Amino acid sequence: MTSDQGSDQEDSQRNRAKLPFLGFGLGLRAEHYDEILAGAPAIDWFEILSENYMVPGGKPLHYLERIRARWPVVMHGVSLSIGASEPLDRHYLAALRALARRIEPEWISDHLCWTGAHGRNLHDLLPLPYTEEALAHVAARIGEVQDFLGRRLMIENVSSYATFRHSTMPEWEFLAELARRADCMILLDVNNIHVSAYNHGFDPLAYLAAMPPERIGQIHLAGHRNLGSHIVDTHDQPVIGAVWSLYEAALRRFGAISTMIERDDNMPPLGELLLELGQARALARPILGAAAA
Ligand SMILES: [Fe+2]
Repeated sequence: MTSDQGSDQEDSQRNRAKLPFLGFGLGLRAEHYDEILAGAPAIDWFEILSENYMVPGGKPLHYLERIRARWPVVMHGVSLSIGASEPLDRHYLAALRALARRIEPEWISDHLCWTGAHGRNLHDLLPLPYTEEALAHVAARIGEVQDFLGRRLMIENVSSYATFRHSTMPEWEFLAELARRADCMILLDVNNIHVSAYNHGFDPLAYLAAMPPERIGQIHLAGHRNLGSHIVDTHDQPVIGAVWSLYEAALRRFGAISTMIERDDNMPPLGELLLELGQARALARPILGAAAA
């Protein structure tokens, strides 16, 4: 190991140490606002969809502020389009920063993707070609966003249904190098790894093995629909067994990482999601010991 690598690793470990382990959380959804506030559900923290609250006032923000008074919150966006070739949207960034100042989230995340071109929003999280050129481009843009927000960003791996012939490296190599080069954190979506591994025929454990443990700041779990020839990442089903197994492998490799379940459609009562969250806790307990309590 060179002395440069050594100091890189020390820096990274210091960075990771600054992020708290929040425990086991849920995506905050409007359907559950009242039930959450009426009781004391066993939820350690919430992740919000940033775009739902990027307004100066209104009912959603009113609920969010009441929830924020009682729980840690993290902000998760879908519109940054960090991989796009058009300039970053300064209005969007300003609104994101304003919300962050108001809510004081533990961290802010978005996806490793692009969401449109030539002024058109495709409303999808589209994968990038994994090339040196894309790596330099995205790393520079993450740097720009981090400078603007005055904090480190967390970037999530997306599930995908297509790959680019001109990619020169696998996604896991791209993401690991991106995190190092941009000095950002990684939000590891374990379900997305499973979905993409199924769709493209790679080994999900190879993905986990390539991730730098000191960069992993959060884990997502979710359900999907398997159509045989491919999986569609619908977030409308419970987490399946293979994803729970991959989650266990992730915990063994990365240790105590703040974990949450994403459910966006076919929304069950809060109690059902709490049972699923209990499953995550139960899996984590023997692996993490006291750290998961
Ligand atoms: Fe996710």
